[in-house]
Amino acid sequence: MNVIEQFSRFANLYETHNIIQSQVAKKLVDMIEYRDYKSIIDIGCGSGSIYKNIIKNSIKFKEFVVADLSTEMLEIHPSSSKIKKVSFDFNNINSFEDIGDDNYDMVISSSALQWSQDLDMTLKEISKLSDKFYFAFFTSNTFKTLHKTTRLKSPIYTKEFIEEHLNNYYNSSFEVMNYQLDFDSVYNMLRYIKQSGVSGGRKQLSYKEIKKVIEDYPLDYLEFEVLFVKATAKDQS
Ligand SMILES: C[S@@+](CC[C@H](N)C(=O)[O-])C[C@H]1O[C@@H](n2cnc3c(N)ncnc32)[C@H](O)[C@@H]1O
Repeated sequence: MNVIEQFSRFANLYETHNIIQSQVAKKLVDMIEYRDYKSIIDIGCGSGSIYKNIIKNSIKFKEFVVADLSTEMLEIHPSSSKIKKVSFDFNNINSFEDIGDDNYDMVISSSALQWSQDLDMTLKEISKLSDKFYFAFFTSNTFKTLHKTTRLKSPIYTKEFIEEHLNNYYNSSFEVMNYQLDFDSVYNMLRYIKQSGVSGGRKQLSYKEIKKVIEDYPLDYLEFEVLFVKATAKDQS
């Protein structure tokens, strides 16, 4: 199952399983200083955490474009006359033509771009859309101890890799936050991973591997590391 199939399959459960992503979206929107925009685009919008926080923080806009590859996610995103929903794939360079006509006052993307298959291309194309950017990326230190226990490699990028590629196209300021999500059993923890989309559709653990995690996992929480970025585009000429 790929990342999109995974998100689409559990789109109806996303709201109840995205506790950390909700906190991340809230923090990212709280970082926004300027409060009046003509157009905003939210890349990998999911079920609308960014939009809901924008409304809560009384940030004004004339148009709010929400872009996601999962139709199921776009369907459950709030709708209004100011919201334009676009089916969009940040892994496909041609997809940027569907959103690239406008120049946006602000690009925001929370908990999505760590799934880019070609981060450099994705970041380069996004940098052409605006001059103001807010990003939150989950890093490879997410599920650090779980990966160590199972000897599996994180499917997402290191903080250093993300920063290095951002530096090619943006002037950025960075902040790293660590989160913990408590569980009363390792079984519930594994169920959460399956249903939240955070595993990115990577191969399922075998019965033997699950048994090993249940026996050996030393924590009663999951670890998450998030890189918050506030950026402007570098002059590419
Ligand atoms: C963890 S959710 C985050 C959703 C929302 N931004 C939030 O903060 O709650 C990641 C989102 O990225 C979307 N996504 C994953 N790969 C994508 C791609 N290649 N192009 C566009 N969206 C993608 C998923 O469908 C999902 O809605």
